[in-house]
Amino acid sequence: MSNPSLLILPGDGIGPEVMAEVRRIIDWFGARRGIAFDVSEDLVGGCAYDKHGTPLHDDTMARAQEVDAVLLGAVGGPKYDSLDFSVKPERGLLRLRKEMDLYANLRPAQCFDALADFSSLKRDVVAGLDIMIVRELTSGIYFGEPRGIIREGNERVGINTQRYTESEIARVARSAFELARKRSNRVCSMEKANVMESGVLWREVVTEVHQAEYADVELSHMYADAGAMQLTRWPKQFDVIVTDNLFGDLLSDLAAMLTGSLGMLPSASLGAPMANGRPKALYEPVHGSAPDIAGKALANPIACILSFAMALRYSFDLGEEAARVERAVEKVLADGVRTADLMGPEGGTPVSTSAMGDAILAALDASL
Ligand code: IPM
Ligand code: MG
Repeated sequence: MSNPSLLILPGDGIGPEVMAEVRRIIDWFGARRGIAFDVSEDLVGGCAYDKHGTPLHDDTMARAQEVDAVLLGAVGGPKYDSLDFSVKPERGLLRLRKEMDLYANLRPAQCFDALADFSSLKRDVVAGLDIMIVRELTSGIYFGEPRGIIREGNERVGINTQRYTESEIARVARSAFELARKRSNRVCSMEKANVMESGVLWREVVTEVHQAEYADVELSHMYADAGAMQLTRWPKQFDVIVTDNLFGDLLSDLAAMLTGSLGMLPSASLGAPMANGRPKALYEPVHGSAPDIAGKALANPIACILSFAMALRYSFDLGEEAARVERAVEKVLADGVRTADLMGPEGGTPVSTSAMGDAILAALDASL
């Protein structure tokens, strides 16, 4: 049997820097665990635009459809701000999500004990936090039609459309319920059913799926604005949160920050099962391309490394090896190894991106 295949798309800004550390971890698995991947690498985002005039070349898109998993760094940067919307770096990422039909975006927000004091919230509010936001990723206002900027009389009008079909809601609800069963068995669904028809339908469909298939899971509903408030007030009340594309975008940034640093959080975007039974999948850190620190060896590679750990778990059935990576990360944090984003009020000397990689590799070695 051939090795499992990985397509690596480092992207822009700090993407290539953090991905370089992931490549070292991948090599480590080949050398030390006998787990080898067929790795190919390609462009996405601004760098793809620079080379091909498009943020995602058709050949790259085709390759992404073939591989067992895609690993993406980050896209975007100020250099591309004035580009036409249709070729902005972000369109490359959105095309991957849409054409691979990666409808369930898993964004864990986990607080590492060593970092509990880095949160903007009090330690007891965040210590031990472990929640999972399941964000719908291929529909809603990100993709709804009509959209655009049109002229109406003597002024311009900006239009986006929030649109959800029953089946789109039902399938992401199922993903959330399935995950909850493997965790603390609780799902909180967030929308704005008080204001939006799409929210009314969301609530109805989630309730129907729950009653028909997942009555053993505890389900609650919350308006998304109240959800944001509750996430900052007492986040540990949540286990799995399921929500739409835009609310999920906002709430996952909020949840990420509770844990102390955006540089820590991975994500998995999963679609329907392929012929081999595994879901189509793309893994990426929640953070962006951070152009302000790009090229300075300051970036924290942990979110990207933990994204690879999620790939081990969700695409390759290597949950034990995923946990090995997660424990290695926990270990270096407990040892006080810190990149610049993890400098608390008391300061200290930050390590470089590759020194963080070194430390994690050493912890992996020690785990054998
Ligand atoms: C995210 C990002 C993206 C989004 C951008 C880069 C298109 O913010 O993954 O959360 O809005 O979905
Ligand atoms: Mg976002």
